[in-house]
Amino acid sequence: MTQAQDAAERIAALRSEIDAHNYRYYVLDEPSVPDAEYDRLFRELKALEAEHPELITPDSPTQRVSGSALAAFGTIRHEVPMLSLGNAFEEQDLLDFDRRVRDGLADELGGAGHDLFGDAVSIEYTCEPKLDGLAVSLLYEHGVLVRGATRGDGTTGEDISANVRTIRNVPLKLHGAGWPEVLEVRGEVFMSKAGFEALNARAMEVGGKTFANPRNAAAGSLRQLDSKITASRPLEFCAYGYGRVEGGSLPGTQYEILQALRVWGIPISRELKLAASVQDCRSYYQDIGARRDALAYEIDGVVFKVNRIDWQRELGFRAREPRWAIAHKFPAREELTELVNVEFQVGRTGAITPVARLKPVQVGGVTVTNATLHNMDEVARLGLMIGDTVVIRRAGDVIPQVMQVVPERRPGDAQPVRVPEHCPVCGSEVERTQLIKRGKGRESVSAGAVYRCVGRLVCQAQLKQSIIHFASRRAMEIDGLGDKIVEQLVDRGLVKSPADLYALTYDQVVQLEGFAEVSTNNLLNAIAASRAPTLARFIFALGIPDVGEETAKLLARTLGSLERVQRALPEVLTYLPDIGHEVAYEIHNFFEEEHNQDVIAQLLGNGVQIQEDGGLHPEFAAYATFPDFIDKLSIPYVAATGAKNLATHFKTVEALISADWLDLSAMKGLNERAKKAVRDYFSDTLHAERARAIEAQLREFGMHWESEKQQVEGLPLAGQTWVLTGTLEAMSRDVAKGKLEFLGAKVAGSVSAKTSCVVAGPGAGSKLAKASELGVAVLDEQAFLEQLAGYGISL
Ligand code: IVH
Repeated sequence: MTQAQDAAERIAALRSEIDAHNYRYYVLDEPSVPDAEYDRLFRELKALEAEHPELITPDSPTQRVSGSALAAFGTIRHEVPMLSLGNAFEEQDLLDFDRRVRDGLADELGGAGHDLFGDAVSIEYTCEPKLDGLAVSLLYEHGVLVRGATRGDGTTGEDISANVRTIRNVPLKLHGAGWPEVLEVRGEVFMSKAGFEALNARAMEVGGKTFANPRNAAAGSLRQLDSKITASRPLEFCAYGYGRVEGGSLPGTQYEILQALRVWGIPISRELKLAASVQDCRSYYQDIGARRDALAYEIDGVVFKVNRIDWQRELGFRAREPRWAIAHKFPAREELTELVNVEFQVGRTGAITPVARLKPVQVGGVTVTNATLHNMDEVARLGLMIGDTVVIRRAGDVIPQVMQVVPERRPGDAQPVRVPEHCPVCGSEVERTQLIKRGKGRESVSAGAVYRCVGRLVCQAQLKQSIIHFASRRAMEIDGLGDKIVEQLVDRGLVKSPADLYALTYDQVVQLEGFAEVSTNNLLNAIAASRAPTLARFIFALGIPDVGEETAKLLARTLGSLERVQRALPEVLTYLPDIGHEVAYEIHNFFEEEHNQDVIAQLLGNGVQIQEDGGLHPEFAAYATFPDFIDKLSIPYVAATGAKNLATHFKTVEALISADWLDLSAMKGLNERAKKAVRDYFSDTLHAERARAIEAQLREFGMHWESEKQQVEGLPLAGQTWVLTGTLEAMSRDVAKGKLEFLGAKVAGSVSAKTSCVVAGPGAGSKLAKASELGVAVLDEQAFLEQLAGYGISL
């Protein structure tokens, strides 16, 4: 075969592969390979066509803009075609672009872009982020939005007028005056990272389809035949250009045009900048690149455009791309590689997590060989098999993730992923955790996604992780007790539980690898210095499943002593903000277990002295209400209203427990079935005793509705629980949290009926929805700032 035949074949293969990817990306909104792979194929095709221009055909993907209109939408013609952008991947590509611009403007600039002294004349460029969404055209006639369209193939797009009208930041009427009679605005419709995550979380809850990334989510949301669905999605618009302009004119530079759009009420990027030269473009690229993770939305690069419109006209277009603009792409965050194996790691609580072993691949400048798979549900959701080609994503410092499988590339001998029957570290049995749902009077059990090694501290892996956690900075803070040392201590059998740390001797430590006199003394001193933890640190250090630092602090603050925390009934714990059923039972079960009791006793025996004030914090005094108490008993057929009516009628727990048929039938606001259920419930003495025990403990802990309510002096938001969601623009969430805590509020991660107020920034999703469902007060950032100002707090 000749070289030309080879090239022709390769070109044909590339074209058909690119066509298939285009179809998946633009029409189905479901790409199967990362952009980096697509870009590589595209570049290869372009290079081959450049070598063999005789093989270029008008239907080559290099000759047109991809995407075609979905037949279900009406189609519209773009009178000014919607084109694409050339890409720069390396700095040299950008410098070459600048050189081509100056060459193209040689007549205007004089002397081929050099001044009298031979220095290059600088070109002024606008710099904008390249948002990763989809291109949309908005047509305004006499200032009124009359049409919205997708790019489609650049000439013909889909009529999505009804859908774009639902995007909240798209003005239906232009503000001010001076706009052309006909003005076609072009820009990107996108979804913020927070909006995307909330949307996927909601989809996951109802078992719906999740999206692979914000771009797909934006495209899938915008191209809905039912605009009500679009309206429910957190879409945003950002303008970057224009198309038709009639009956008026726009300013003479790209920068001024965008400013004019802004004045007319059209959102443009806050990151828009003017660069005096290509050197400034480089700095812009680096600056935004460094802030990429912190931005509220995904960008895949930046776009530089010659600022002067007359020069843009002079430069014109080449095939599908303007000669006056270029996209400088960031290193790809997604790459393709092969899944070589799936191994299982044992964590602190015994959870066995699958880890993907990958054929090494460069992602964003780092070689990736492992990726997290979270749990077996995730493996099932991905449909993952060993041998598969997978899309890997690595963003910032986040652990690389497997995003999806490329089904077309599955080899014939791909193997299913199997959970081992025995722990890979200690050989103990592996059991599947159960999900227990407690409903009205019933418990339903289903298989969970997590597999656990039952070996506990017998399992060296769990023991090591527990000790690492115990010693960590936010727990017992034992300086210098790093992973490697823990490993040695456990491997040599010197430490079989966290309590053994406090019994270590000089002779035992000095024999460890890398230890000498000074280091030994340092470690022993650090261990001794950790002997007086606060109660919160101690609880956190125990490593109770699902009890993080915040929950540990809450337990310590409210109950004041380890003894009370150990004794607390799970039902009583659920009265504390942010502690749900599952966590309450985890806490209770942990302290019930004999082995854990032994370890705690040994810790105290080995000289650990918990700093506790023993007092009950007034913040949660009288937190419980009688109706809530009844509701939480989960008596079948008794819902919140029934509970309220029972509380009003019976007034005390004792009266309710001993209610006879006569009492109940006299009662209003409860149906017969529920009345019977109440009687049946309390005729079981176990239930009656439990209710008495809960009540007694609530009283003892000062949380009973008859306990004296106390005010935390001076703090205006004491006793309130706030939730922050979405993106805050004036301050980070941490700062907002700090301000609220300063005012006495607790800041929780999820919305419940106990939530006092939700602060929702742009992109707020499921938490905001939950708040409105529960009728919880919601503030936007502006209102929040005003409220803070009311308390004398400014930024
Ligand atoms: S200008 C003729 N500016 O990138 C110039 N495009 O790869 C047309 N995009 O279709 C595009 N941010 O969907 C331009 N600031 C920006 C952009 C941007 C994102 C998208 C747009 C376009 C694609 C081209």
